[in-house]
Amino acid sequence: MNYKEALIHPIFKVISKSAQELHLDAFVIGGFVRDFLLSRGDAKDIDVVAIGDGIQLAKQVAKNLPNNPNVQVFKTYGTAMLKHKDIEIEFVGARKESYTENSRNPAVENGTLEDDQNRRDFTINALALNLNVVNFGELLDPFDGVKDLKEKIIRTPLNPDITYSDDPLRMLRAIRFATQLNFVIEEHSLNSITKNSNRIRIISKERIITEINKILESDVPSIGFILLEKTGLLEHILPEITALKGIDEVEGQRHKDNFFHTLEVVDNISKHTENLWLRWAALLHDIGKAPTKRFSKKVGWTFHGHEFEGSKMVYRLFKRLKMPLNDKMKYVQKMVLLSSRPIVLAQDLATDSAVRRLVFDAGDHIEDLMTLCEADITTKNPRKFNKYHNNFKIVRDKIVQVEERDKVRNFQPPITGEEIIKTFNLKPSREIGIIKEFIKEAILDGKIPNEYEAAQKLMLEKGKKLGLKTSSEDD
Ligand code: CTP
Repeated sequence: MNYKEALIHPIFKVISKSAQELHLDAFVIGGFVRDFLLSRGDAKDIDVVAIGDGIQLAKQVAKNLPNNPNVQVFKTYGTAMLKHKDIEIEFVGARKESYTENSRNPAVENGTLEDDQNRRDFTINALALNLNVVNFGELLDPFDGVKDLKEKIIRTPLNPDITYSDDPLRMLRAIRFATQLNFVIEEHSLNSITKNSNRIRIISKERIITEINKILESDVPSIGFILLEKTGLLEHILPEITALKGIDEVEGQRHKDNFFHTLEVVDNISKHTENLWLRWAALLHDIGKAPTKRFSKKVGWTFHGHEFEGSKMVYRLFKRLKMPLNDKMKYVQKMVLLSSRPIVLAQDLATDSAVRRLVFDAGDHIEDLMTLCEADITTKNPRKFNKYHNNFKIVRDKIVQVEERDKVRNFQPPITGEEIIKTFNLKPSREIGIIKEFIKEAILDGKIPNEYEAAQKLMLEKGKKLGLKTSSEDD
């Protein structure tokens, strides 16, 4: 087979010419070829393997490009990278590799193209296109990767035990590709992942999270999480999620399986948002349910305070997985903390003041919170399903009305602390906070409008009750 049309971009001719000048063979390999055959859009990352010195080839290519781009060399890995316009090209010499048991650092030996293809993760990632002047565009597919692409199968070129022990991250990559591409992992591979799942422990948290994020960013993330759970990987990475598995029954009372419920919520939300952190919030919204689960004869199963517990767990989880402890983490915490509020409103008709408080607490994230809560409706009872969705529509309308009227999103108190100090001639003291809080509560309860005059009047009344005198009374 010849796939010249994959190599239309002028850069490939430059690489081809450079390889010829150095008398070596060069091939495009991996994701670029796979994505071309899957018509997955224009890949911007190109991996080139040279039969010989990859770094030297990178330098030659840079020399032959009009703007002579900078070549970044990674000596330890024997690779080099250059950027040409919006394309990133990585060069490597073909290698035979053997890995030591407990580390990812390979002992490297030079090899043939076939050696190099052998040590790649999957047959669909081992496809190579020839860049030599003669045979330009010829496909080299020793493991029937094209067939696997057509049949939608993830398979390792070698015995899966070898491929996965060479780099245990590949177990996650297999599941990630299965999720992104909606492929099936071949049986021996799946068994091998299950057998070797504990080896994921030697992989850095950062690399693990990159894959988890890609699973979460897929169209149907549950495909990946179900595989992660089945193979035992999830237990090592996110035990908070596996703890949600199962249904308890006491005296004939059951609760739902919160693991499968969570996955349904993640799939639901993925139809409505690309926001990775909102998808994380969906994944974690119920993690507080495992530690707070109780059974009482009177009310059955309860998960009191699971939102608060869950939001505390978010911090610990992010920290353990070396995820950013910044505003993204705080956002996920906030979503988890508030995740039951709108649903409570949607069960009965929401009062204005409840909606006002919700807008106040959620601030600019109110839209995202509503999206999360709508995704959280997984009841199979059509009557309840319709009722909750209709009530959510009403809540959304009320949010708009309350917002227009009361402007409580990013609430700024109409009376400042300074004004309270001046009015009552106070030194910094408890009373200032009490009056401010009293005014805020009155606005949120709808007792007074969010306006200066009404707030000022209330300030004077409250001050009087606290036994304070205004500056003019003092005179
Ligand atoms: N590869 C591998 N084992 C890994 C990572 C990568 O064998 N643990 C090989 C595969 O041949 C892969 C290529 O290196 O195709 C490039 O890897 P990478 O850029 O990480 O992935 P892509 O396959 O390009 O896919 P994506 O861009 O979706 O990550």
